[in-house]
Amino acid sequence: MQTITTVAELRRALAKVRHVDKRVGFVPTMGYLHDGHLALVAASRAQCDVTVVSIFVNPTQFGPNEDLSSYPRAFLRDEKLCRDAGVAILFAPDAQEVYPSRFETFVEPGELAKSLCGAFRPGHFRGVATVVCKLFNMVQPDVVFFGQKDFQQCAVVRRMAIDLNFPIEIVTVPTVREPDGLAMSSRNRYLSEEERRRALAINRGLLAAAHEFRSGERNVERLVAIAKGHLETVDRLQYLELVDGDTLKAADSPLRRPAALCAAAYVGSTRLIDNVILALPTP
Ligand code: PAF
Repeated sequence: MQTITTVAELRRALAKVRHVDKRVGFVPTMGYLHDGHLALVAASRAQCDVTVVSIFVNPTQFGPNEDLSSYPRAFLRDEKLCRDAGVAILFAPDAQEVYPSRFETFVEPGELAKSLCGAFRPGHFRGVATVVCKLFNMVQPDVVFFGQKDFQQCAVVRRMAIDLNFPIEIVTVPTVREPDGLAMSSRNRYLSEEERRRALAINRGLLAAAHEFRSGERNVERLVAIAKGHLETVDRLQYLELVDGDTLKAADSPLRRPAALCAAAYVGSTRLIDNVILALPTP
């Protein structure tokens, strides 16, 4: 595995790969890797000849009162995990490499970025879309892999790739969970043991609603209420919304189209997100 920190070096390394027509898979991350990231790497290795992972804690997607300075970092550990997982190139630029001085050009996503997390984290998806667009230009992958836990991020990036004509296939990989159901996230390390136990309510609530959905419940209010009934152990529920799978706007009731039940909640001072897709059986 090559660890590369500059765009020039990355382009040189990838030119050799493209020269022999290899399919390049890309997994963008902010580091502090866990099994969720490694599932993305495994998916890339299964579908592509060469896998590139980026590690970059992107300052433009953090709000002023968010955890940019305390975001967990463990570069040497991540580097070893990537090497052991069969990554070919680890791209780990510093902030100056990604955002040169006087940087002022951003990618502004539209409606998809306004609901759910977008309503509570102003500018977050503008930062995500900007850095992902830049990383796409730097790596020029054939396929990119994102985790379903970041459901809205997947939708925003997919839209951006179409709108800005990136010839890139975007693959969403199912959320990887701890054995007890907690969705894997680098931020889980902020949780105390007691908070971690209480955080399980999020997945429990989503699963309970999904169970009722599979049993035939199609009423949006009732499905949300079922999930909410499990969420009393979180400290603050930021949102729990059933949204249309394409527009991410409030789903019409009764459900007739694929939808996603999405939640964001604080447990202690840690903000966690999770979701479940409610896909209607094909007639
Ligand atoms: O999902 C993440 O880790 C980040 O939002 C991403 C896609 C790497 C952009 O910084």
